[in-house]
Amino acid sequence: MVKAVVAGASGGIGQPLSLLLKLSPLVSELALYDVVNTPGVAADLSHISSNAKTTGYLPPNDGAKAAFKDADIIVIPAGIPRKPGMSRDDLFNINAGIVKGLIEVAAEVAPNAFILVISNPVNSTVPISAEVLKSKKVFNAQRLFGVTTLDIVRAETFVAELAGKSNPQELNVPVIGGHSGETIVPLFSKVTPSVTIPDEKYDALVNRVQFGGDEVVKAKDGLGSATLSMAYAGYRFAEKLLKAVAGVKGLVEPSYVYLPGIPGGKEIAEKTGVDFFSVPVELGPNGAEKALDILGDITEKEQKLLNAALEGLKGNIKKGVDFVHTPP
Ligand code: NAI
Repeated sequence: MVKAVVAGASGGIGQPLSLLLKLSPLVSELALYDVVNTPGVAADLSHISSNAKTTGYLPPNDGAKAAFKDADIIVIPAGIPRKPGMSRDDLFNINAGIVKGLIEVAAEVAPNAFILVISNPVNSTVPISAEVLKSKKVFNAQRLFGVTTLDIVRAETFVAELAGKSNPQELNVPVIGGHSGETIVPLFSKVTPSVTIPDEKYDALVNRVQFGGDEVVKAKDGLGSATLSMAYAGYRFAEKLLKAVAGVKGLVEPSYVYLPGIPGGKEIAEKTGVDFFSVPVELGPNGAEKALDILGDITEKEQKLLNAALEGLKGNIKKGVDFVHTPP
């Protein structure tokens, strides 16, 4: 019996993500929360003949609390998306407050839930979430995840295209670091089964993984950023986590986590000098069971990318932490 919540359920990501969760045999109850339109989205989804009992909630009458109450997993794609010319960091001023408010509710009524943060800038909204949970004394790093899966999904697709592989999902392409521009670090030397990226194509491929989101923002021409591919990516991560919690072994997916609170993470935090970082995480009944250190013997080029990522990440993390302790 799993109760899943989507916060921001009426949005571009929220609706298809809710549809995918509604179809999942692992979900028995699906609560949809948003500041608009959830009664309609919930009524619509509730006619699908799958297991999950689906309900919609709005802010009046403590709707957020009612939606989040005793949730097992809360997925958060609430907030505004990018328009052309905007960076993810430009979203901070609005989305930081939205995420903070939602996490406060989660801390109160669902302190043991797995929380998956999609709202950008993920590099800062996850530190915000951790600080809020810490201040409410319910922080468990093994249960808080920044969803970076879309970067992996894009990397699989682009590498498969270049390497002439017909099924991108047979590739495992680790992407580490953060979730915006230069903080995204694809490790092509660690792709399995291994692929050869021609030297002259390397920079363009890295750039496409780091800035692939811009292609969608540009193509949507003012109507937002990735929604359908993000819903798929968010669902892929949620499904893996739910399967691992149910006892399936050997499931690994990179995620942006608080390293010092996860077995194996402290050493990576010491090595990188950052507490929040995306690495492949082994999933299990407790959530993030182990952070896997794959930083050993990376190439010189990858080390350069990593150094640039760490610079950017430090500022993004500090901005999130400061927001909670000294609100504007
Ligand atoms: P959208 O604008 O279509 O949907 C956002 C939804 O959040 C709206 O329905 C809105 O009413 C709702 N909302 C606003 N304030 C809320 C609150 N306080 N409580 C509950 N719901 C609230 O935006 P879209 O395209 O779905 O993107 C959502 C977020 O996901 C953005 O921040 C975007 O940057 C981020 N994103 C993250 C990605 C990732 O890889 N982690 C990829 C793509 C987008």
